Amino acid sequence: MLGCGTVGSQVVRLLGEHAADLQARAGARLELVGIAVRDTAGERAPWVPRELLTDDAAGLVARADVVVELVGGIEPARTLVLQALESGATVVTGNKALLAAHGPALHGAAARGGADLYYEAAVAGAVPVVYGLRESLAGDNVNAVLGIVNGTTNFILDEMATNGLSFDQAVALAQELGYAEADPSADVDGHDAAAKAAILASLAFHTRVSIDDVPVTGIRDVTAEQMAQAAESGHVIKLLAVARLNRDARGISVRVHPALLPATHPLAAVRGAFNAVVVEAESAGRLMFYGQGAGGAPTASAVLSDVVAAAGHKVHGGHAPRESTYAQLPVLGPEST
Ligand code: HSE
Repeated sequence: MLGCGTVGSQVVRLLGEHAADLQARAGARLELVGIAVRDTAGERAPWVPRELLTDDAAGLVARADVVVELVGGIEPARTLVLQALESGATVVTGNKALLAAHGPALHGAAARGGADLYYEAAVAGAVPVVYGLRESLAGDNVNAVLGIVNGTTNFILDEMATNGLSFDQAVALAQELGYAEADPSADVDGHDAAAKAAILASLAFHTRVSIDDVPVTGIRDVTAEQMAQAAESGHVIKLLAVARLNRDARGISVRVHPALLPATHPLAAVRGAFNAVVVEAESAGRLMFYGQGAGGAPTASAVLSDVVAAAGHKVHGGHAPRESTYAQLPVLGPEST
């Protein structure tokens, strides 16, 4: 495991507490062989075995069958993940920024190394939307994906709508409750949601969308007055990640922006810091995935589901589902959204 923060320490706890069940489901022995951290002397949750800590991340990657990357950010995560994939190790990552910026390079390295890449935790935490798009909907054609994929901004907008808080008051409350960072810009300016939109659009439309393809408007300019006006006309304002197939223009549009939704829309009912993704597919119709998009244990749940699948494949053969990118659809300009 690379990194041992909020999510990583929950992965360690759950791996220990549920070892027998997880191994039975994988049909494989799971052994945590090391945890690479920047500061091996730093404070850790009491259940983290100190003897497994190392500051030699590259050395650890070289001796693991499955690398769980929970460092976040681009470097050193990118170099370590590429090293793992090129040497044939399976990678399980929750790193949306890395996937959204360097997806093609990661998938290319995986193909060269004959390795698998799993990333359920990268989008909407515990909500199994990566699995849903990659596996459950492999027999269908997706027309659109609309999601509330950032819990912090949904919490802020919900507080403004239901308790009349100003944007600044709602951000302060989100910080107090531990949702928003001291610098909330990745959330409130929509960049976190844009990374997730790029990943979802890539999966939904069998193409590769980068975060640079996603026009973003965050929620800084949403006012309490706009919230009140929306409510008067039976609407709510939500920050949405939207990806649509445009058949006429033979391309897709992807965007993150505050949207006015009728109060009857299923996404309008998503309260607090929850996430939800609506998928519209040709045969299945409308599906909705809903749940906790952040937090240690919910995100660790997604990581461990990938670990179980990865370990099962390592021992019994088989691979993660092939990610076809046959469509190569151009990403159209924002005016087509
Ligand atoms: N900060 C994100 C959110 C969680 O509020 O949803 C991790 O992507």
